[in-house]
Amino acid sequence: MKKTIWPAAATLAGFLAYFILRALPAGRFHEQGFRNLLAFCYALLGMTTVRACSYLIFDILYLKRTGREAPGLLKIMFSLVCYSVLVMLIFGLVLKYDVTGLVATSAAVSVVIGLALQDTLGNFFAGASLHIEQPFKIKDSIRFAGQTGEVETVSWRSTTIRTQHNSLLSFPNSLLAKEPIEVFPYEGLHRHSVSFSAPCSVSPQSVITLAKKALLNLPNVSYEAQPTVELSGFGQSSIDYVALFWVKDYMKVGDTSARLKERLWYAFYRENISMPFPTRHILLNKIKPEDDQCRTGAHYRSAIEGVSIFKPLTSVEKDALLTNSRVRLFAPGEFMVRSGEAGDSMFIIGRGRAEVRVCSNGVHSTIAVLKKGNFFGEMSLFSGEPRNADVVAAEESEVLEIGKLGIEKLLRENAMLAKAFSRTVTERLAALEEHAGQVRRREQIRVEEGKFLERIKRFFNLG
Ligand code: CMP
Repeated sequence: MKKTIWPAAATLAGFLAYFILRALPAGRFHEQGFRNLLAFCYALLGMTTVRACSYLIFDILYLKRTGREAPGLLKIMFSLVCYSVLVMLIFGLVLKYDVTGLVATSAAVSVVIGLALQDTLGNFFAGASLHIEQPFKIKDSIRFAGQTGEVETVSWRSTTIRTQHNSLLSFPNSLLAKEPIEVFPYEGLHRHSVSFSAPCSVSPQSVITLAKKALLNLPNVSYEAQPTVELSGFGQSSIDYVALFWVKDYMKVGDTSARLKERLWYAFYRENISMPFPTRHILLNKIKPEDDQCRTGAHYRSAIEGVSIFKPLTSVEKDALLTNSRVRLFAPGEFMVRSGEAGDSMFIIGRGRAEVRVCSNGVHSTIAVLKKGNFFGEMSLFSGEPRNADVVAAEESEVLEIGKLGIEKLLRENAMLAKAFSRTVTERLAALEEHAGQVRRREQIRVEEGKFLERIKRFFNLG
């Protein structure tokens, strides 16, 4: 607004001088002198008007509507057009010149100037096209020619960005118009990823859970969309992961990544997970089978202890059971047992949760949720029939798979075991049938239990 004060004051003074001189006795001044003074006054008036309009349009209306400062080039172009019209009007209407000649002369001058200022004009028109197309605006962040920064100004010649190091980088507009530019809009969210690695010995679910926790409440991260962590590949000495999240301010993406990596380090440290580094294993000794068993024994003996049916077993019998079993790890959502498949083993859940799912009339439903210490898969194992339900890991789950051989030996040695199993199987069968719409009476269940016991005995050739 300040810029309009002096032309306005000068306009007033000019017109005052003009009217005073006009009022003086005639003949003192030449008529041409009056015309020139009037043209000068009109030029000042035009200048005041153009500046006032520019202030009103760009500094008030544009700012209010877009919330950003108007680009300098737009202001210059507006002034240029207004002043050209003003000059034409003053020359034509006030000074009574033949403006057609002026237009012709200016065309010739334009050619000469155009040739001399090829590059400058190239930048000018590229700048003009940038303003019309508006591929980016002031305050947006852009990546161009390997440099990233926030757009500060777009002038008629160049575009200036402020980099993360607070330095200013200026690109000629003609260059920006030719090459691809990556734009990160000021008010949008931007997806960003951070890659990291974890040791192969730590299960993906544990790492993903840890990393998701590390991603919580990070500054500059938007939680409108859930951050995710995915396994991206298997490295030579590690498993690679990628954390994907949305950031609000693209210029702070470096800080956000650094914060996340720092948090990952602490999370790993708390869980005793060492950061992977290139390693090479040279096996000098063959691992003895007992060592392997020992690991299994130490970890999974407790799983067997937790199963009520196995409670009456002696310590030797429990050890024998372990010898014929193996540990299996399942990811969340993985099928541990599929309905209709043949099966000759049963499973004890050592860690995690499993859902027993059945499908009746095309509708899938969960009929039971099994936890640590529960077992499944015994029905096929004892009857030799296909699996009668799907068993799916509801979370990362570790199970002990016991083969037919291990169970057979136990059943021979422990008569009570077959009875206990036939009770569980009959109860589960009743639940399955109930789900399918058939309700059985208690006495009926007891009869079935006796029948199943006979079946077990026949199947395993028990006396
Ligand atoms: P199997 O038929 O070998 O395979 C599917 C398993 O799901 C089945 O053995 C049982 O162990 C288990 N199962 C079936 N019905 C139920 C139920 N109602 N409650 C718990 N587990 C069940």
